Amino acid sequence: MSDLTFNKVAGALLATGLAIVGLRELSSGIFSIEKAEKPGYAIAVAETASEGGGAAADAPIDWGTVLPAADVNAGAAVFAKCKSCHTVEQGGANGTGPNLWGIVGRAPGGHAGFAYSDAMKAFGAQQPVWDYEHISEFVKAPQKYISGTKMTFVGLKKPEDRINLIAYLHTLGSTLPIPAPAPAAAAPAEGEAPAEGAAPAEGAAPAEGAAPAADAAAPAAPAAKS
Ligand code: HEC
Repeated sequence: MSDLTFNKVAGALLATGLAIVGLRELSSGIFSIEKAEKPGYAIAVAETASEGGGAAADAPIDWGTVLPAADVNAGAAVFAKCKSCHTVEQGGANGTGPNLWGIVGRAPGGHAGFAYSDAMKAFGAQQPVWDYEHISEFVKAPQKYISGTKMTFVGLKKPEDRINLIAYLHTLGSTLPIPAPAPAAAAPAEGEAPAEGAAPAEGAAPAEGAAPAADAAAPAAPAAKS
C-alpha cells in the first residue's frame, strides 16, 4: 500500500478511536446523571422478585432471620440437583464432588480423599470456613464465584432455593450456629425503608414512582382550589 493510502487508513483509525473516546466521555457524563435514578429502579426490580424470598438478587441475606423460617424439606428437594455429584450422609463416599456432611463450618477444599481443583484450594487458603454466606454465593454461580472450580453446576439463582438448601445442609453436621438476626434498622435504612416502600411503589408505575409520588403530595391541594 502506498504511503498515502497508509496515511488515510491510519487517519481513519485515529478518527474512529477519537470518536470512541469522545462517546465514552459523553456517555459517562450521561450515566453519572442517571445514577441517581438507578437505585430506585433496582428497588422496583427487587419488589417483583421479592414475592417469594424477600431478597433481591444481590441483596445481602440476613441468615439469622431467614434460616429459622426456612423450609428444610424444600431444601432437601433442592438438594436433588446436587445428588448426582454429592453425598451428604456422614462418612458418605466422594463422587464427582466431595461428600458434604458437615459442609456448614467446614474448610473449603478440606474434605479428605477428594482431589480438589487448584482454584478451590486457593479459595480455601483465603476463606477458612464455609459459612452460610459463602456457600450461598458459591452455589448461586459456582464458576463465576470461584473461577476454575471443577464444580460444573449452573447455579441456584433463586435466593429462597439457596436459603432452604442451606437450612437443610445446616441440619447435617453443621458446626456453625445460626447467627442472631440483624437489627431491623440495619438493612432497610440503606434502601429507603424497602419494607414500607414496597407496597405503594408497586401500585404506582414503579419506574416513575419516585417523582409522581412527590408531585401528588404537593400540588394536590392547590389544584383542588383553582
Ligand atoms: C456436576 C457435579 C456437581 C453438581 C451437580 C454439584 N456439585 Fe458441588 N462440587 C462438585 C465438584 C467437582 C466440587 C469440587 C470443586 C473443586 O474442587 O473446584 C464441588 C464442591 C462443592 C462444595 C465445596 C466443597 C468443599 O469441600 O469445599 C460445595 C459446598 C458444593 N459443591 C455444594 C454443592 C451444592 C449445594 C450443589 C447442588 C445445588 C452442588 N454442589 C452440585 C460437583 C458438583
